Amino acid sequence: MSKIILTGVTPSGSSLHVGNYFGALKPLVDLGTAGNQVYCFVSDLHALTTVQDRATLENNVKNVIINYLSCGVEAQNFVFFRQSEVAEHAQLETILTNYVGLGQMKRMHAYKDKLEKGVDTENINMGLFNYPILMAADILLYGAQGVPVGADQKQHVEIARDIAQNFNKKTGTQTLVLPEPIISDQLGRLVGTDGSRKMSKSLGNVIGIFDDYKVIEKQIMNCYTDPKRKSASDPGTVEGNPVFLYHDLWNEDKAEVAELKRRYQAGTVGDVEVKQRLLVAHKKYFAAIRARKGHFEQNPAEVAQILAVGAARARLVAAQTLAKVYKAVGLSAQFVKPEVMVSQPRPVVSFDNFARVEWRVGRVIEASEPAWSKKLIEQKVDFGPLGVRTIFSGLRAWYTAADFTGRNFVYVTNIPPRKMGDFVSEGMIVAATDEMGVPQRWEVAGAAPGTVVG
Ligand code: TYM
Repeated sequence: MSKIILTGVTPSGSSLHVGNYFGALKPLVDLGTAGNQVYCFVSDLHALTTVQDRATLENNVKNVIINYLSCGVEAQNFVFFRQSEVAEHAQLETILTNYVGLGQMKRMHAYKDKLEKGVDTENINMGLFNYPILMAADILLYGAQGVPVGADQKQHVEIARDIAQNFNKKTGTQTLVLPEPIISDQLGRLVGTDGSRKMSKSLGNVIGIFDDYKVIEKQIMNCYTDPKRKSASDPGTVEGNPVFLYHDLWNEDKAEVAELKRRYQAGTVGDVEVKQRLLVAHKKYFAAIRARKGHFEQNPAEVAQILAVGAARARLVAAQTLAKVYKAVGLSAQFVKPEVMVSQPRPVVSFDNFARVEWRVGRVIEASEPAWSKKLIEQKVDFGPLGVRTIFSGLRAWYTAADFTGRNFVYVTNIPPRKMGDFVSEGMIVAATDEMGVPQRWEVAGAAPGTVVG
């Protein structure tokens, strides 16, 4: 069963390391590839709690976006966007503050850690204190069932669940979906190169992904191994040894890993060789991701387009949840229509921006005439690498469903999804009216689904 999955990343300045990647990002990408609907966003509002210099924040946001895109969050099934572009996050946070107690908030790690470190409360901003409530809003807006995060974020997903439960109970509704954290036992707290603490930029125990290879080599070469081993001929311990933990993660040559472990235990391989092989494996494993980073850096318009489409798709869902929340609490019944109280998706590609319209060949696998509309024809359209989308076209006055089935037409594939009745159209057929006023579809009989036209 396909699920709704959501996660976020804060552009607080640390560059992506293998801990973030294997702990949160890879599980996320795998969940999307397995057919789940994934929402992934850059939590730039959360970053304001620590980054209060404009240029620094802009730079951090850009880096995180490019890093995440390079790791695959723009594939099919993914909605990738910036939190600040969807106003509903802040709007829902305001409401949720009323459904959590001060006592519970005071027990949250981020705040408690500051107090324990002796930071004066005058120097703890309210953004940091409220951080978990904004995070709850992030999660609850999309009805996320699963939230893949590292172990450090578990408490935050739990409070989101508590808030949702409390909200539903107090309003006597089932408005909010209760989320579950998804944390891998082994990777939810990937150990750093010091062999003891969680990998974290602030502890200086990371192995990077995008850094210069000279830096990564140093990080790997300095990695803690078996301290009892004085020379390469001493038998060494593999279990719990971070170098082998990392080999298991990204060395895809499993026969080599098994051989290295055997030799290490027998005392016939040195630490240096094991680490050098780890570096070679890192280069292989992350080569494609690093190349994609170069691509996105060179193509800022493509990045902007992905984010714009992502934000539009996110708004569509967020606005619906917020409207339900307004209704549940009693903010919408008098004198206002709920739909005017929440922001509407804005068009992303206008005709001023014609050059950016993406036209692709789509093959209609199935077409039908929905009973709830007189005008629309519903099509399931195969776009090859983009997957299958549902598209509604207002052409029923001229065509029947049978006129679509099994044929290839050209569609616009990069406009934001549009609501049609209770459904969403994920693109638009290209048609032009002839001199008799009949819209003519653009049929491309032989082309492969997904082919870009024009
Ligand atoms: P952030 O930006 O600190 O970290 C991004 C993700 O990486 C995970 N992580 C790790 N996982 C395993 N081992 C490690 N050594 C390691 N280091 C980091 C983090 O747990 C996280 O999943 N508050 C969040 C962002 C956020 C969010 C959300 C997440 C905002 N709203 C809603 C989920 C749902 C944060 O600052 O993550």
